[in-house]
Amino acid sequence: MIELAARAWYKSIAHTLEVQHIQRDGCPYLERYFAAGWSPTNTRSGPAIFLHHFVASDPHDSVHSHPWGWSASLILCGSYREERCGPDGDVIVREYAPGDVNILEADDRHRIDLVSSDCWTLFLAGNFEKTWAFSPTCAEKSSSKRFAFLSLRGAKA
Ligand SMILES: [Fe+2]
Repeated sequence: MIELAARAWYKSIAHTLEVQHIQRDGCPYLERYFAAGWSPTNTRSGPAIFLHHFVASDPHDSVHSHPWGWSASLILCGSYREERCGPDGDVIVREYAPGDVNILEADDRHRIDLVSSDCWTLFLAGNFEKTWAFSPTCAEKSSSKRFAFLSLRGAKA
């Protein structure tokens, strides 16, 4: 019951924010709501706060690193299992539940699998330092796979 109310609350907040729908291989993957700081329309430099709504797991055929110097994700609702690449190409698996914080640096590579049907996170991002980077596996380094950033919608009054 509390989780249902929380999801409804996050959805109502998200509805007031600028959003970007992100897809992989033509399938919806993540809704990124711009709460503060940088967004594609204000192009303000510096850190940003996003509300993330994962609607699917990361594809199984790649891991990725983020473009920001650092990022921190507070799990609000739902949960996911992360496969993070270790220093020797090994895979470290950890599950994140509400209240957990997942911190990534620019060179950390990972992918996530939803454990619940969806997952809401509060995502803090530092400055842009590089482009998104994708690898087929933790043991390999480069890939042509990309996210598609689609359907930017402005904030509603
Ligand atoms: Fe990621």
